[in-house]
Amino acid sequence: MVDADVQGSCNEWAALRDSVPFGVVSLTRPNIRKELTDFSRNYDLVVIDAPPRSDALNRSIVAASDLVAIPVEPSGLSDWASAATVTQISEIQEIREDIQAVFVINRRISGTVLGSDIREHVESHGLDVLGASICNRVVFAESLTMGKTVYEWKPNSEANKELTVVIKELEEYHGKKTNKKTS
Ligand SMILES: Nc1ncnc2c1ncn2[C@@H]1O[C@H](COP(=O)(O)OP(=O)(O)OP(=O)(O)O)[C@@H](O)[C@H]1O
Ligand SMILES: [Mg+2]
Repeated sequence: MVDADVQGSCNEWAALRDSVPFGVVSLTRPNIRKELTDFSRNYDLVVIDAPPRSDALNRSIVAASDLVAIPVEPSGLSDWASAATVTQISEIQEIREDIQAVFVINRRISGTVLGSDIREHVESHGLDVLGASICNRVVFAESLTMGKTVYEWKPNSEANKELTVVIKELEEYHGKKTNKKTS
């Protein structure tokens, strides 16, 4: 896991633990594409936590990625932030067409229409939204504070099940698009 946000939440999380189930490194230099590309040769999967801006660092991260998952919350503010992200991704896709981008709804409040509202809004811009979404659940916040993964903290929770579906769908999304290109 690459913590590319100077806020350093991933590193803080790792520091709470005796050992980590995967490597966590901090890389925050503006031009990290080459570092990320070299680094990824030693791993099957590299997850990068990007900063909440569309600056040079983010551009470099997107350019080094295969799949960009953009978390979007059912609130106006994060929607605006995503608009800048989408423009940036589209610009990079003009050079690297194979980069995929998908929105993932986070902090949905079950039983409200807010989740479907944001889905319609994002889709109306012709962008993909993952079918599975993540609800607002205290278990997510707790596990972060406790330095645990959700799977360790509450193995049988709804949060755990929800995340498993999201990850599976992200893998399928990536596989499907990749196959489409090669067939
Ligand atoms: N689905 C969720 N349910 C409950 N709490 C959540 C959920 N997602 C995030 N949080 C909490 O919200 C806070 C911010 O989350 P997170 O760091 O993931 O947001 P972020 O968008 O990456 O923030 P930043 O833009 O500052 O990097 C954390 O305390 C986290 O535990
Ligand atoms: Mg963040």
